[in-house]
Parts: sequence; structure tokens; C-alpha cells
Amino acid sequence: MSKPPTLHRNADQFDATRASEAHLAFGRGARFCLGAPLARLEAATVLRLFFERFPDAQLAAQREELPLPQSLISIPVRLRPTTTICSISMRKPAMPTPDPFPTRRLTPSERRLARYVVEGLNAREIASAAQLKLATVNAKLHSMRWKLHCPERCSLAVVAHHLLDAEVVIAPTPQRAAPVLSPERISLLKAVTSYSQSLYIARAANLVTADLPAALDQLLADTGAQNITQLVVLAHGWKLLPAEQAHTTRSGASQ
Ligand code: HEM
Repeated sequence: MSKPPTLHRNADQFDATRASEAHLAFGRGARFCLGAPLARLEAATVLRLFFERFPDAQLAAQREELPLPQSLISIPVRLRPTTTICSISMRKPAMPTPDPFPTRRLTPSERRLARYVVEGLNAREIASAAQLKLATVNAKLHSMRWKLHCPERCSLAVVAHHLLDAEVVIAPTPQRAAPVLSPERISLLKAVTSYSQSLYIARAANLVTADLPAALDQLLADTGAQNITQLVVLAHGWKLLPAEQAHTTRSGASQ
């Protein structure tokens, strides 16, 4: 039933080079896809989260321009009325860009954890300092990332930057005077506030990935920071980050 000869010739033969002639959906009959309920659940979850996050998302193409009813590889969408067109793609994701839109209000317990993040504690240390289970801390960090528009699995240094940028926590005034940093160092500083992965940090700072560890070590030495989170906090205290880095609209995150 799921191998109708009208759809594929030699359907019994495995042929990875076969040009797919028509959409099978989940198949039919005895060979009906075993993963269909899971695939449907995943699709429903992804779509629900997408529309929760971008309630104003609109198609950025005429319906006739879409390759329906064949498989969709990418769909041009406008995430918000004023934004440029993005492409929701199933191919390799493009380099993530920081989200300049208002953040959401944190709960009192999230704000308590926010202070530990800015102090440079990792999730385990936060759990022990706040006397919470690690799973609880991870869940709260997950929620904070979402509310602050941080990438889902971004480093705590990036979370710290967003917390300071949204003024959930105010950066302490550093004991030392601000060092004079070259435009290249400022660019690297800005990169570590936005990205967690070496590849993206290097790309944003115009560096070859292999040169990144040495450049970061040098930046830590120049600023006297022990680690990247401390570097981010010091940079905020010294107001070293370029003005456009600050969110244009302050939000409920700090309230
Ligand atoms: C959108 C996602 C998916 C689509 C479009 C899809 C499509 C299909 C199709 C068309 C068939 C039938 C092939 C045939 O007739 O020979 C099939 C079979 C199958 N699929 Fe999926 N599938 C999807 C996701 C999944 C997932 C997530 C799983 C597992 C977790 C899965 C497991 C299977 C298995 C085990 C079979 C073979 C069933 C059998 O021969 O008894 N599929 N799928």
C-alpha cells in the first residue's frame, strides 16, 4: 500500500539517488510511519513556540510564490512589522543575531539568580548558593534566557550581558580605571557579549578561529578579568561597550 508502483518504479529497491517524484506524507497502510505521532507533536510544539515568540509574524511572499504543495525548504517571513525579511529555513542556520527587542519581566526568584549570574557563578554554584536543586536553577536560567531574548543555550556570560544591558542588575563600578582598548579589542569584547561559540565569536570579531584563544587571553590580561563573565561585567562598569549595544527600549525586565 505504501509502495504504490504508480509513485515509484522499483519501490522495493533502495535507491538514494532516486529523484523523489511526489510527496508521501507519512505513507500509508502497513508501512505507515511509526514516528508520525512524534513528528506531529514536534511540529505542533515548534509552531506554538514560534507564534508565541513572534505573534506578528507574517508571510513575506505571495502565497502563489511558495512551492506548495511540494516540500518546503524555507519560507520567507517577516517576524515583526518593522523588521527586515528573514527566512525560516531547514538548512544550516545563519549566524544568530542579537535581538534588539524589549525583554520580559523576571520573577523575584529569577532576579535573585540574576545577581549570582553577574557575580560569575556557574549553575552548580548558583544552586548551592541559592539552596536550590540544580534542575530548578537550570529551569530558571532557561526561562531567563527566553525572557531576555538570549539564545537558548548561550553562555552565562551572554546572559550576564543581557541582564546588565536590560538593567535587571546594575554593574558595580570597577575598582580600577578603564583600560584603553584598541577597536579590535572592543570588537572582540562586543563579540563575547553576544555569542557563546568560538566560531561565532571569532567571526563577529573578524578573527580566524585559531587566533581566538590568544586574543581572548590578551583581552583578559588587558582588563585584569579572571574569566569572560567578569570581563563582561567590568566592560559594563567601565561603559566600554558601544552605545548601539544598549537596547533601545527599556522593558519590564528591570521592574
Ligand atoms: C515529518 C517527519 C516524518 C515524515 C515526513 C516521515 C515519513 C515517513 C514515510 C513516508 C514513511 C513510509 C515509508 C514507506 O512507505 O516505505 C515512514 C516510515 C517510517 N518512519 Fe517516518 N517520517 C517522519 C518522522 C519520523 C520519525 C520522527 C520517526 C521515528 C522517531 C520515524 C520513523 C519511521 C519508521 C520506523 C518507519 C517505517 C515503518 C515501517 O516500515 O513499518 N519517522 N516515515
